[in-house]
Amino acid sequence: MADITTVGIIGSGIMGSGLAEVVARAGFDVIVRSRSRAGADAVVSGVTGSLGRLVAKGKLDQDECDAVLARITATDHLGRLAECDLVIESVVEDVAVKRPLFEELEQIVKDDGILATNTSTLPVVELAVATQRADKVCGIHFFNPAPMMQLVEVIRPITASDDTIKQAMAFATACGKDAVEVADRAGFVVNALLFPYLNNAVRMLEHGTASRDDIDTAMQGGCNFPMGPFALLDLVGLDTSLAILDALYAEFRDPNYAPVPTLRRMVAAGHLGRKTKRGFYEY
Ligand SMILES: NC(=O)c1ccc[n+]([C@@H]2O[C@H](COP(=O)([O-])OP(=O)(O)OC[C@H]3O[C@@H](n4cnc5c(N)ncnc54)[C@H](O)[C@@H]3O)[C@@H](O)[C@H]2O)c1
Repeated sequence: MADITTVGIIGSGIMGSGLAEVVARAGFDVIVRSRSRAGADAVVSGVTGSLGRLVAKGKLDQDECDAVLARITATDHLGRLAECDLVIESVVEDVAVKRPLFEELEQIVKDDGILATNTSTLPVVELAVATQRADKVCGIHFFNPAPMMQLVEVIRPITASDDTIKQAMAFATACGKDAVEVADRAGFVVNALLFPYLNNAVRMLEHGTASRDDIDTAMQGGCNFPMGPFALLDLVGLDTSLAILDALYAEFRDPNYAPVPTLRRMVAAGHLGRKTKRGFYEY
């Protein structure tokens, strides 16, 4: 990729960390920005731990590990992203948080920089029109855990130029991923098909059709899925899952997308899955 050399990543959650690892391993310089310095440093520690495990297993040599880590810079200062060729925003799934961030990025990032979002469902066009460069805004949607998952959905809002989409597709490919281009519809391909299934699994549990463990066992054994729906909801995060379902329902008004009450109650209780060590399972 001649055009993209430095990539900014905003957000230090599950996806921000995974993205930093993938993008730095692909040879790009990475600047990770979190609201706090501790958050940004935690991403670097997380990547250090993850790469260290690969070294211990003999899957990565120490020199390469050191080179990847040397390409990552941590900051709490948005202004550090000024010279990025591409910025990928990966903060909380809330358009009211993401939109002002795009307004700020418009002021900060060099004029020809591409601004991308890792949103799972939100309308990318709403972020595009928050800037003066709507033609250079798109979705680059990685999956969780980013280092392991092979797919990237490149989202084309109606405002994006062909060149932006071409660069985003080439970037995803340079990260070693399989890229698919998708129109800017809530849930894109994967989550639009996946979340009715996850939501209906919780509904099935509410109805007492089977236990949590038996539903998970049934879907693993019966469909050859690597994990059942409750294990997957805990991995995604129940707050993120709820936000995804809310966005899908807001767009399509399909009852299969209306989040079932249990999910909302669990989020209200702070049982968010692996990240809070308690969701449908305890960790
Ligand atoms: N979890 C998944 O499986 C998954 C998969 C693909 C894409 N995504 C998307 O990636 C994005 C991040 O999700 P995640 O799972 O990493 O979430 P997370 O909860 O792990 O992390 C969210 C991040 O947003 C930051 N944040 C929260 N409120 C903020 C605010 N007001 N201003 C700025 N930053 C704020 C947090 O500090 C944290 O760094 C979301 O858009 C989500 O839809 C998530």
